[in-house]
Amino acid sequence: MRRIVQSRTVIATCLGALVAFGATATAQFGSHPDEIKIDTRSYPSDVKISYKVFANKCSECHGLDSSLKQTRSAQGWRDDVGRMQAMASSHINDREAEAIVKFLAYDESHRKAALRPASSAKPGETSAATGKQLYESYGCPSCHSVAGLGNTASALDGIGSKKSAEELKRLIVAPPAGSSMPAMEIPAKDLDNLVAYLTTLK
Ligand code: HEC
Ligand code: HEC
Repeated sequence: MRRIVQSRTVIATCLGALVAFGATATAQFGSHPDEIKIDTRSYPSDVKISYKVFANKCSECHGLDSSLKQTRSAQGWRDDVGRMQAMASSHINDREAEAIVKFLAYDESHRKAALRPASSAKPGETSAATGKQLYESYGCPSCHSVAGLGNTASALDGIGSKKSAEELKRLIVAPPAGSSMPAMEIPAKDLDNLVAYLTTLK
């Protein structure tokens, strides 16, 4: 009898803990005030539709800010959306995933590109300092190193002496067939700054 009472207490405690956990989880995932407001009024109509899919599907578990505050290449977004889609409870079909990637890529090349620190460079000029930040935010160090920082499997030290700016651009957006470098979809303005940085690596 005593044992039964004890196990009841244990069960009650566990249930209590579960309920408490549930409440915390809801508080964490249920309410997510977004700081970033997207105004789609001036957006092309297909992007407006893509935004609606994004706002609807990607706010289920966390805020839209989780995506709006990050910078990724189009491929990076495709990977992330794929990762979210793989969670069965996300209920995102392939067409919706495609629309979401479309919106995120547009947001990247328009709103976020405009927000990037106005470098000391004049319009039309490139900035190696901005390029260095982009090098980090596009995740290049996950595969490359500079001065020993990052993935030393492929060091980019001295690349500025070996390749011209034009060659570097091509290597990034259209690597030679058979290369294990992924083709990166990067807006032209970012690419110019990125290459401006790489050419300083002498
Ligand atoms: C079923 C719940 C769920 C849905 C729906 C969902 N996410 Fe997530 N998301 C998560 C979880 C859990 C994490 C944290 C774990 C991880 O990163 O894999 C996360 C993490 C992220 C991150 C990483 C945030 C960071 O700080 O690095 C991004 C970006 C993201 N989600 C974007 C999206 C986008 C875009 C969508 C819509 C396609 C989406 N999420 C829909 C559950 C979800
Ligand atoms: C998933 C890993 C990966 C990522 C991410 C990546 N690279 Fe690469 N990159 C490589 C590999 C591997 C090579 C070597 C190519 C080969 O084997 O032919 C390479 C080659 C290069 C080269 C040519 C180097 C040479 O010596 O000819 C440049 C330049 C370059 N990457 C720049 C970048 C930049 C800039 C970024 C970020 C925008 C980036 N890479 C992101 C894996 C990656």
